[in-house]
Amino acid sequence: MSAMAAPDLGTSTAIAARDVVVRFGGLLAVNGVTLSVAPGEILGLIGPNGAGKTTLLSVMSGTQRPTSGIVWIGDTDITRVPTYRIVRLGVARTFQVVKPFANLTVRENVAVGALYGRHGNDRSSRAAFAAADMVLERVGLAPEAKRQASELTLAGRKRLEIAKALATDPRVLLLDEVMAGLTPHETDRAMDLLRDVNASGVTLVVVEHVMRAIMGISQRVAVLHQGRLIAQGLPQAVVADPLVIEAYLGKRYAGGSHGHA
Ligand SMILES: Nc1ncnc2c1ncn2[C@@H]1O[C@H](COP(=O)(O)OP(=O)(O)OP(=O)(O)O)[C@@H](O)[C@H]1O
Ligand SMILES: [Mg+2]
Repeated sequence: MSAMAAPDLGTSTAIAARDVVVRFGGLLAVNGVTLSVAPGEILGLIGPNGAGKTTLLSVMSGTQRPTSGIVWIGDTDITRVPTYRIVRLGVARTFQVVKPFANLTVRENVAVGALYGRHGNDRSSRAAFAAADMVLERVGLAPEAKRQASELTLAGRKRLEIAKALATDPRVLLLDEVMAGLTPHETDRAMDLLRDVNASGVTLVVVEHVMRAIMGISQRVAVLHQGRLIAQGLPQAVVADPLVIEAYLGKRYAGGSHGHA
């Protein structure tokens, strides 16, 4: 299986999954998903609670091994590659339940990302801190650099999660609900940040329940339901798909502009 070529889905791919299955005991959390993300794309990934979104991100970032199926970064099969090497190949993720090192400062947390990232092999801790400072500026956390991570607000902790991932200098960034719980203003700021990151050449996969954010930044949307991909395509077409409305959007979106925040 591992000798198989990456799926040819029309264009080159930044990251792709084919026939991915993740079984937890009797539960099929991901049930045969084939999905390809183009270089430079912003893909929104939506679906109800328990649909398998986080599990799929975990498989794509190597933090969860699939029961079966294959994941590629570009042309490289990473299905059995250790996570630290996947990071060095340029894939980073954030965690839905944020995981800062609570007793380190904000700056130290981000420096850890820089030390273990794509350039980690040949980076001194001094260079890692310099890289961390640039990332903190970029995400707007520089004023909080010396605070303990545990002192940040929810919006700050979400931003720190993005900063830690950015410090690894990813080509592909997988974001798991980084806008959940934010105010509309904080959500707008997060959307601006993600657009800026994407404009710098980073491919994004954005898992989010906040439909206003998904519709505002995604070039394409994919929908998971009970572990299966039930729709993918242009955002406006996907939210008008009866299957998607039935499985997920019905009450919360109904085609209007009021997102579920
Ligand atoms: N480590 C695990 N062990 C057992 N079951 C798990 C594990 N991780 C996830 N699951 C189950 O797999 C299914 C998919 O979970 P997942 O977290 O991927 O969903 P999700 O789409 O991210 O949901 P949410 O929108 O609530 O974050 C759920 O039924 C969940 O309970
Ligand atoms: Mg999840």
